[in-house]
Amino acid sequence: MGDTVRLDKYLTAMGVGTRSEVKTYIRKGRVQVDGQVVKEPDIKINTTNVQVLFDNKLLQYEEFVYYMLNKPAGVVSATTDNQSTTVVELIKEGKNKDIFPVGRLDKDTEGLLLITNDGDLSHQLLSPRKHIGKVYYAKVKGCVTQEDILAFEKGIRINDEFTTLPAKLNIIKYDEISEIEVTIFEGKFHQVKRMFMAVGKEVIYLKRLSMGNLRLDETLLPGEYRRLTQGEINSLKNKG
Ligand code: URA
Repeated sequence: MGDTVRLDKYLTAMGVGTRSEVKTYIRKGRVQVDGQVVKEPDIKINTTNVQVLFDNKLLQYEEFVYYMLNKPAGVVSATTDNQSTTVVELIKEGKNKDIFPVGRLDKDTEGLLLITNDGDLSHQLLSPRKHIGKVYYAKVKGCVTQEDILAFEKGIRINDEFTTLPAKLNIIKYDEISEIEVTIFEGKFHQVKRMFMAVGKEVIYLKRLSMGNLRLDETLLPGEYRRLTQGEINSLKNKG
């Protein structure tokens, strides 16, 4: 975050709520800046020394930070890379926090990526024993069929290496380019692409919509991010 920032953006970044929720809170008079109730979401505040109260409680910096990034295509899911921009470099205010992405999305995949410095939560969400569901939207070259739904339900054999856990496939549009949503419960390398490859189809666009209880905030454009709300953090910690 720069030195001056819009009040609604600051509150969103601090995890108070989504952008539209915090605008409502501000208009209702629940936010004070340096001792004054402020009702305009677009006023600019200086983040260096400001005291912002939400429901009379001072907003404070916490040990752990949790960001939801709408990952754009073309950036890599890593902390550093010699050639490409990394997802961590997109989080402008997380520089001193040792943040990292929870799992990986391919370079060309878009959508929900959790970025945090909370190693325990990351471990929980990635543990193969937990079977955390991940929902992806994809455009697929070829007509996705009822047989594919059944094959995904049974588990797909990948290159004679392993068989995936049962996955739930929903066809949104059935055509030369089909549109689908698929829920998988593990996170093998290129898993969704390889599952479609195994049934003779090619994923040409892939976007993650959710991970456990956490859903991508659709108001975030690719490349944009926000802090998770306390409710989202609790719900991830409780059930993944
Ligand atoms: N499956 C893939 O094939 N790629 C991703 O990025 C995520 C899941």
